[in-house]
Amino acid sequence: MGKQVRITETVLRDANQSLMATRLPYADFEDILETMDKAGYYSVECWGGATFDSCLRYLGEDPWERLRNIRKHMPNTKLQMLLRGQNLLGYKHYHDDVVEKFVELAIKNGIDIIRIFDALNDFRNIETALKAVKTYSKKYNRHVIASGCISYTQSPVHTVEKYVEMCKKLVAMGFETVCLKDMAGTMSPFEAEHLIKGIKAALPDVPVILHTHCTTGMAYMTITKAIESGVDVIDCATSCFSNGTSQPATESMYYALSQYGIDCGLNEKVINQVNDYFKPIKQKYIDKGTLSPKSMGTDAQALVYKVPGGMLSNMIANLTDMGAMDKFDAALAEIPAVRKDLGYPPLVTPLSQMVGNQAVTNVLVGERYKNISNEVKNYFRGEYGIAPAPVSQELQDKILGAGNKPTDCRIEDSKRTGADFAKAKEELGDLARSEEDVMSYICYPKQAKEFLEKRKAKEENIVTYTIEAI
Ligand code: CO
Repeated sequence: MGKQVRITETVLRDANQSLMATRLPYADFEDILETMDKAGYYSVECWGGATFDSCLRYLGEDPWERLRNIRKHMPNTKLQMLLRGQNLLGYKHYHDDVVEKFVELAIKNGIDIIRIFDALNDFRNIETALKAVKTYSKKYNRHVIASGCISYTQSPVHTVEKYVEMCKKLVAMGFETVCLKDMAGTMSPFEAEHLIKGIKAALPDVPVILHTHCTTGMAYMTITKAIESGVDVIDCATSCFSNGTSQPATESMYYALSQYGIDCGLNEKVINQVNDYFKPIKQKYIDKGTLSPKSMGTDAQALVYKVPGGMLSNMIANLTDMGAMDKFDAALAEIPAVRKDLGYPPLVTPLSQMVGNQAVTNVLVGERYKNISNEVKNYFRGEYGIAPAPVSQELQDKILGAGNKPTDCRIEDSKRTGADFAKAKEELGDLARSEEDVMSYICYPKQAKEFLEKRKAKEENIVTYTIEAI
């Protein structure tokens, strides 16, 4: 085993995103930030992913203000965010000017590490964000780490060699660290061992990070093997927000590793204080029903069907709505076929929904691809990026017309009209007080506009009140 393994704490982002749909308000964790700042984490993942959407949509918070507040209370810890490449924190491809501005603002407001991924591992979709990290890191005179992240999946084409090639490519592009993102928690100890050994042999000096979930019950074994094989950083969550669909427990990992003489750089007393703080908060959300016991258990079904837990529950909900739960087994059996036809995309948002819905449609209609969803059509047009493996020629011909090929340029290049940021700014008028407001609006137009209108109304009320008081 190596001598040092660092730990990223995920309670402020992925742990509460996975267990309670990112409904943790800032007010619930403000008081522990200064303690967390003394823990000695490699980083605290606190922004990006679904936090942005949740702040605007459900919590009535300005996500930028949240970030600035965390920064203020945690001056000594690296703050980390997750970014979906050209999708930023949304579900569509944004123009380069928007991606560049987003990265600039994230850095300006306090982010130190940006973990960037593309659902299809089409690295053309993460290049603009990477370049922006370099540019604005220099402009704001801060060392911001761009971490190149791979969406992990299993398929006949996803071999160790292929993943090693991907990592080499990320490093050649200019990423400082590489991260394997096992969003469904299906990476086995065996796979982790071979992957990490392969990556470390090819790139001995590049820090390798493993992000996994406990969903299927393998994470502790998988991480142990990854550590034996030389992984440098692992993602964990404070124990009361660990396990289930979340990450393994920070304190347990610390305890197990210290007996091997592995230094995590953590302060034992502080990490226990952090957990003590979050215990009653967890209980509050269990009582409210926000945190469901279902997400705290182990679900090994994903290993049988190779389908992430979230995708399974989605399919069950859809089939139940349609009164067609008797077709569940058939739909499940259809998924591998659809995935093969699409060239084995990783089953992560938005591809998991796309594959799941098409499989359900195929089964309900009783004929393969008689009805093809718009998402699948756009996928074959190349709008999501390049598929990991060749797609079904027959299906491609059916969608594009025989002899036609998908676009080989980035969607951003083919649809570029430019100046999306300027346009959005104009649309918002005096509702926007900052570039951050404009960016919130670009990412989530409806939710951000409502939020900004409410803010304005509140301010006007305060002004009226002040005048009356005088
Ligand atoms: Co995750």
